[in-house]
Amino acid sequence: MTDRSSVTCIRVIGGRGWVRPAHVLLVAIVLAAAVVPARAAGQIDVVVDASKTGAKIDRNIFGQFAEHLGHGVYEGVWVGPDSPIPNTRGIRNDVVAALKAIKVPNVRWPGGCFADEYHWRKGIGAPGARVVTLNPNWGGVIEPNSFGTHEFMDFMGQIGSEAYISANVGSGTPQEAAEWLEYLTTAQPSTLGKERGANGHPAPYKVAYLGIGNESWDCGGNMTPDYYLSQLKVYSRFVRNFNPAQQTSNQMLKIAVGPGGIEPRWTEWTETIMKAWKAHTWSWDIDGLSLHNYTVVDWNTKYKSVGFGEAEYSRFLKSTLDMEQLVTTHSAIMDQYDPAKKIALVVDEWGAWYAPLPGTDPGFLVQQNSLRDAILAALNLNIFARHADRVRMANIAQMVNVLQAMILTDKEKMVLTPTYHVFRMYVPFQDATFVPVAFDAGTYTHGDVTLPRVDAIAAKDGAGVLWLALTNIDPTRPVEVSARLAGITPKTVSGETLTAAAVDSVNSFEAPETVAPKPVSTKLAGDKLTLTLAPKSVTVLSIRR
Ligand code: AHR
Repeated sequence: MTDRSSVTCIRVIGGRGWVRPAHVLLVAIVLAAAVVPARAAGQIDVVVDASKTGAKIDRNIFGQFAEHLGHGVYEGVWVGPDSPIPNTRGIRNDVVAALKAIKVPNVRWPGGCFADEYHWRKGIGAPGARVVTLNPNWGGVIEPNSFGTHEFMDFMGQIGSEAYISANVGSGTPQEAAEWLEYLTTAQPSTLGKERGANGHPAPYKVAYLGIGNESWDCGGNMTPDYYLSQLKVYSRFVRNFNPAQQTSNQMLKIAVGPGGIEPRWTEWTETIMKAWKAHTWSWDIDGLSLHNYTVVDWNTKYKSVGFGEAEYSRFLKSTLDMEQLVTTHSAIMDQYDPAKKIALVVDEWGAWYAPLPGTDPGFLVQQNSLRDAILAALNLNIFARHADRVRMANIAQMVNVLQAMILTDKEKMVLTPTYHVFRMYVPFQDATFVPVAFDAGTYTHGDVTLPRVDAIAAKDGAGVLWLALTNIDPTRPVEVSARLAGITPKTVSGETLTAAAVDSVNSFEAPETVAPKPVSTKLAGDKLTLTLAPKSVTVLSIRR
């Protein structure tokens, strides 16, 4: 592989992260068997060897996050059974159908910062008799508590997803959280079990994941790592899956609050939890450590989610690629204490965070979702896939109407965002086996920002189909791809591409198909696959034997 420019970025086979020129020689040696020659600008050679496989790409990295925030739950998911908007027991049918199509593996609920002020008892019982509270985190609005435990679990059933419950550590108690889990999970006629039955659900619910607090270093209680650790041990001990039948077959995995950045205070947080975990006794345990990272560029500047140009496009994509460094840094610390990788790194809040749309409540975090967000999503999913051995769960923030949403609604109207389409196109990567890809990514430069021009991942599914995802970051130049497919005798190739006229193209209620996937044309000759990647596009191909 030849370095054609002083800032060329190279993606390593099965590798993690972008390698800078100083490392090129080493990379070239490592790649000896799969070296691809330099080609003219605008062309890249790719080698995919389907016989070399890596870790399973856990379907849970495609998880969602639904917080009681703005119209994320109320209006976005819950309209109530009396609404003229078609619904099933109060849950929007259009949203359910859209989410089913992207096979949402898990949903984190009820927060976020909201979780640390949520008291579950207020969200059960007769709908008309629920306690009405406030949501001080998000606009100080009324929280009617009409969407509570039963409604959330019904929603999980309707979309075929697993529950990831966030327990209140900040303003709750271990007793309150333990009782919530008993209410949810016990199969026995305890008072709480019977109360659940009286409220309409005699059978125990399955809680697949339990988050012990949220951002306990900030909105979750401003705790030091040591203080949080003492809380974690107590909650881990007492907040159980109370259903012994599920404990063996369907364990509830417990996820500790983890870092929110890369600076020393965050590595100290990871160190503290992982060191303690290494020395843990039978009485407490965790299965995951969370990581939060929003793509922001700078919190003090109000960057728009639509109506921007190439400068902001490139800056946000540069910023989003920091995810690689974050995951690498914290994985390395985890490796020291957990070389067997028993503890998953759970990126349970990620996505782009822009200025609220004009005219919306700033506490509701409403933003548009453009083609840039689709590309940003693909880049992050690719990073998670390359770290599949450690990153086994992730939750984009957030599912409907909040931040980098899959879906936007306005009363009876619903529109699917460009980010939604990427999640739909990536469905085949759920639980598929990672396949290494070698390619010279080239570079794309705008002003003082230089990025890899192309990104790619591949995976093999259970039926032996090879999936290749290619992203062309460059917003003006197409890329000619020439891919050599090894370890498979390809017979047919098909796929689709997501692109649009501008980097800030969006889907609106009036024009919902502005950014929508379209079939892509490819050429297959023996083991050689060629295609053109449109500028600023995400393409997913299926390669069948
Ligand atoms: O997703 C919005 C908020 O961002 C979450 O409530 C919080 O955990 C994070 O700071």
